[in-house]
Amino acid sequence: MQTAPDQTAPDGRIRAAPVIEVRGLRTQFGPQVIHDGLDFLVEPGEIMGVVGGSGSGKSVLLRTIIGLIRPAAGRITVLGRDTGRLAAAEARAMQRRWGVLFQDGALFSSLTVEQNIEVPLKEHTRLRPQLRRQIAGLKIGLVGLPPDSANKYPAQLSGGMRKRAGLARALALDPEILFLDEPTAGLDPIGANKFDELVQELSRALGLTLVMVTHDLNSLHAICHRISVLIDKRVKVGTIDELMRLPDSWIQEYFRGPRGRAALASDERRSQDRGDQPGGIGDSEAGPLNAGGEREDA
Ligand SMILES: Nc1ncnc2c1ncn2[C@@H]1O[C@H](COP(=O)(O)OP(=O)(O)O)[C@@H](O)[C@H]1O
Ligand SMILES: [Mg+2]
Repeated sequence: MQTAPDQTAPDGRIRAAPVIEVRGLRTQFGPQVIHDGLDFLVEPGEIMGVVGGSGSGKSVLLRTIIGLIRPAAGRITVLGRDTGRLAAAEARAMQRRWGVLFQDGALFSSLTVEQNIEVPLKEHTRLRPQLRRQIAGLKIGLVGLPPDSANKYPAQLSGGMRKRAGLARALALDPEILFLDEPTAGLDPIGANKFDELVQELSRALGLTLVMVTHDLNSLHAICHRISVLIDKRVKVGTIDELMRLPDSWIQEYFRGPRGRAALASDERRSQDRGDQPGGIGDSEAGPLNAGGEREDA
């Protein structure tokens, strides 16, 4: 398995290479330009939130990173490999290293939960049926679904359980990166919180790197280390505190509007419950941002 080389920073410290590196990305459909000169870095083990207005190109960004959409210009490196230069077999091998929960989340409605989870296993491995079933059972347990959901069809599950089943399928091949596109959309607040906790726990336990598109300000506060905001075909990256210091009106409205204030208040309550210092996760390492949204010391 090939990983990106580590880099030595000017201060001599070894820094792990980014898991995802997007440079000068331009995406367009015919004359419609979606991203123009977009730079984006995700560090190992990071939970990166992605926000932006409807139609700002969040889903297109995910689909471009995983190679479903070909960029018009720019370079995308995932786990040290330039995804624009992969031969078909290499591209397939890379697909095993990430799991995706798409926005429409579609499980196959004619397949049971267990059969859904087995789809990527059938596609990418030659495991015996019995072993496939066992792995599906493990993943069902991992995402907190009861064992009897294995033989249920998606229509027999609640919205929250369907999201968990989708997550179990995304985890089928033990990926290193998870891409989640609005995973808590449509869930009630309690279901959404539980899903966030699950995602955070999995990320910690399995060392996963996560890129999560979400409109859920609670998720952003509770589990995302940094947030990428898509604005005007580009991206601004930082912790919530860092982003709130930017003069951008969309960011200000988003984080300081009524919903943003409510999320901030519940964030503070959570910190007090835990006895934390105020501030977001990983704030102690937060440095100033340069134009590309990277830390100056990166
Ligand atoms: N396959 C496609 N062909 C043409 N236009 C597309 C395609 N996919 C997305 N778009 C357009 O790209 C823009 C960004 O879409 P999307 O990334 O889905 O937005 P969002 O930020 O809401 O996820 C939208 O204007 C959408 O209509
Ligand atoms: Mg979308």
